[in-house]
Amino acid sequence: MSRKRDIKKREDIIELVDGFYIKVRADGDLGPIFDQVAHTNWEKHLPVMYDFWENVIFHTGQYTGNPMTAHQRVHMLHPFTKAHFTRWLELFRETLHEKFEGVNTELANQRATSIATVMQLKLQAY
Ligand code: HEM
Repeated sequence: MSRKRDIKKREDIIELVDGFYIKVRADGDLGPIFDQVAHTNWEKHLPVMYDFWENVIFHTGQYTGNPMTAHQRVHMLHPFTKAHFTRWLELFRETLHEKFEGVNTELANQRATSIATVMQLKLQAY
């Protein structure tokens, strides 16, 4: 029997997001975009991401931000490449499937993929 479970509550999202950003920060290409370009305040950014993903999966999060504006700002300072998006998705899916499986898990995968695709297309205009 599989020991993986589906994403069912905020605690699961916290586990996913924390695990994902540990990988992102350790990544030689993505880590510096946060730590050296955006100067991310992780204590603020992580709860924003919990809300974002809770909203995406359960429609209950408090997220009211605009991801496009946030990424445009960083993209102007340090352009995001196709390789950055490929790596971002790779790390996201890796974290997701290490711990979770099920309907909500696949929804998170699909949403990440489609948002990344749209974001990539929109950033080409800048
Ligand atoms: C090349 C891929 C990506 C890179 C390098 C990247 C990088 C960043 C950076 C540097 C920030 C700003 C953090 C801060 O406030 O200091 C950010 C914010 C954020 N990112 Fe990404 N990102 C990527 C893709 C994505 C994707 C695909 C999604 C959604 C599925 C996403 C969702 C968000 C959200 C929701 C925020 C918070 C925006 C806000 O402040 O309201 N990112 N990202």
